[in-house]
Amino acid sequence: MRNHVAIEELGIDRAFIEEAIQYVLSQIDRNMLTFTDTFPSPASVDHRYEEWENIEWTPGFWTGMLWLAYEVTGDAKYRLAAEHQLESYKIRLEERIQTDMHDLGFLYTLSCVSAYKLTCNEEAKRLAIQAADLLLERYWDQAGIIQAWGNLNNPDERGRMIIDCCMNLPLLYWASEVTGDERYYKAADSHVRQSAAYLIRDDDSSYHTFYMDVETGEPRYGKTAQGFSDESCWSRGQAWALYGFPLSYKYSRRSELLDVGQRSANYYLDRLPADYVCYWDLMFTEGNDEERDSSAAAIAACGLLELSKYLPLSNDNRRRYENASLHMLKSLAEGYTTVGNPESNGILLHAVYSKPHRNGVDECCIWGDYFYFEALVRVKKDWQLYW
Ligand code: GLY
Repeated sequence: MRNHVAIEELGIDRAFIEEAIQYVLSQIDRNMLTFTDTFPSPASVDHRYEEWENIEWTPGFWTGMLWLAYEVTGDAKYRLAAEHQLESYKIRLEERIQTDMHDLGFLYTLSCVSAYKLTCNEEAKRLAIQAADLLLERYWDQAGIIQAWGNLNNPDERGRMIIDCCMNLPLLYWASEVTGDERYYKAADSHVRQSAAYLIRDDDSSYHTFYMDVETGEPRYGKTAQGFSDESCWSRGQAWALYGFPLSYKYSRRSELLDVGQRSANYYLDRLPADYVCYWDLMFTEGNDEERDSSAAAIAACGLLELSKYLPLSNDNRRRYENASLHMLKSLAEGYTTVGNPESNGILLHAVYSKPHRNGVDECCIWGDYFYFEALVRVKKDWQLYW
């Protein structure tokens, strides 16, 4: 893999980014007519998202895209559309609709924290704090972790943490900042350190999930859910790691988290095919017939930019990450979008939701679209994070 390629050589200039953003906006405009009281399904079917209620872990990606669209255009129609959806996030909390999971972070960061940060919306702030309270209820004190999925008494899920949760922690750090209540911060800080200790293996790859004994606090064992095998490295999990650890660093400034972020990034980058868009599990490399996961590439493109922000100029990884991120964006924009496929209401093709479950394989995934847009916005402007 080539490193240190100048942006000019890559051909990523302002016009390139603007054109890519315009395409994203055109798909959002088209979808806004449909997804007003409903949300795109997590994955498309034959490259078309279906209309879903505010369930699962993914509605926030659509609302988050509306907020990004509002930021880059200043057009009030996106703000109004995003604000209109806040009611469904309120109902979800009030009626506890699928709130028994840690992805309250994804959901409420991109819909409500964003609303508060961009428009000082007090109701959105209240909802996001309420979501943080529910997330905090999932914290196991002895083990120092947040349980990912299911009821806390479900024996199959008890004490299971997953690498994706690194992206849910910013909701807790933010809640601590706005309320002054340290409990949120302490839970997030403990969880991310346990993640670094047990979800990241000695070779810097990640387990998708890891069980802790919630009575003794002792580590138990790693297990995959969406990867090829328990000991392989699920690509999207590694992308969540390389983005998630720097996000915790942003709040705690613990240098070891920056180190884990770099180790995760290096493992990921060392296993990419020539076009920088990973296969769905990092055990598959160049020349394989397995599917790519463009959504992991979009997450990694954002994560690498976040990670590089915190590295000194003297750290070679800084340029390596920026270059790799731009390579990913260029590949995605040129070879992975639905441009020229007018039937599709998605943006990024060739994502994989879960290959073992035969769910959303080689489809559009709504978080892939969101992170592709976030990466473009990051390159366009000095983006202030919702995370
Ligand atoms: N956080 C769930 C996934 O990445 O599929």
